[in-house]
Amino acid sequence: MLRKLEKTLFSKPVEESGMILGVVIVNIIHLSDLHIGKSKNLEKSHIIVDWILENQKLHQTRLVIISGDLVDDGEVWQFEMAGGLISRLKDAGYLVLVAPGNHDYGPDGYREDLASKRAFREMISPVEEYPALFLESGQAFVLLDSMEEEMERREVWGAQGCLGIDQLQRLDLLLDELAENPAVENIVLVLHHHPFDYLFYHGLRDHADLKGVISRREGQAPRVNALLFGHKHLDHRFNDPEDNKEELFGIDLIYASGQTVERDKDGKMTLPVIDLEEKTIQRFLIS
Ligand SMILES: [Fe+2]
Repeated sequence: MLRKLEKTLFSKPVEESGMILGVVIVNIIHLSDLHIGKSKNLEKSHIIVDWILENQKLHQTRLVIISGDLVDDGEVWQFEMAGGLISRLKDAGYLVLVAPGNHDYGPDGYREDLASKRAFREMISPVEEYPALFLESGQAFVLLDSMEEEMERREVWGAQGCLGIDQLQRLDLLLDELAENPAVENIVLVLHHHPFDYLFYHGLRDHADLKGVISRREGQAPRVNALLFGHKHLDHRFNDPEDNKEELFGIDLIYASGQTVERDKDGKMTLPVIDLEEKTIQRFLIS
């Protein structure tokens, strides 16, 4: 299954060296909810990309993960803008992985449209089946589509997500296979919808089933080492050791990115960089 999924996502085989342009991947730049097409979000996204390209020494990675709502209404002109932004990173040697969000699959984030889903696949990410796996430097990055089953339920409008039993079963099998692979150091799971958002019109309908699949089994290593998502526009690390909070599901790092293009009261945007070795998050502030 690993080989099949690798081929699904990437046209070229995984590099034996485990490096992208000579950089070992330990850090992840995590962007989310850029909502390109709305107000000045494109302009602000380009400022973020400028910072990434100019500050390689600070973030020390060539991997950018975008946890959905890349665009605001799932329209072709918005994907064109977003594609231009992603190309700037790719042209500089960055690997960019994008999980789809509710706003990528239709207007206003709650009117799902299969044409938007097709445009996302054609213009942003060629993944045909989720979970989609990418292995790099001993790190396994697994993308989910939290709109997969939601697209089948279009009679109920809302900003909810639903992974569906089929995708969860494929994830369960994939995590079993990764657990048996001694080359895998960390498993990083990425989805758009927030598994700890319980508002009916906003949450992940099958969050409990997802948690069942990814929970650490007694006496075994974690099923997932890092769980990354967005959707709620609220930056929060759930199991921050400094907060002295209980660990959740045996996952080392659970992180909700805020909306990266949102400015705080001082006019700064927050760019989180995740260190997979230390399981820490460094937040850089961008003007
Ligand atoms: Fe969303």
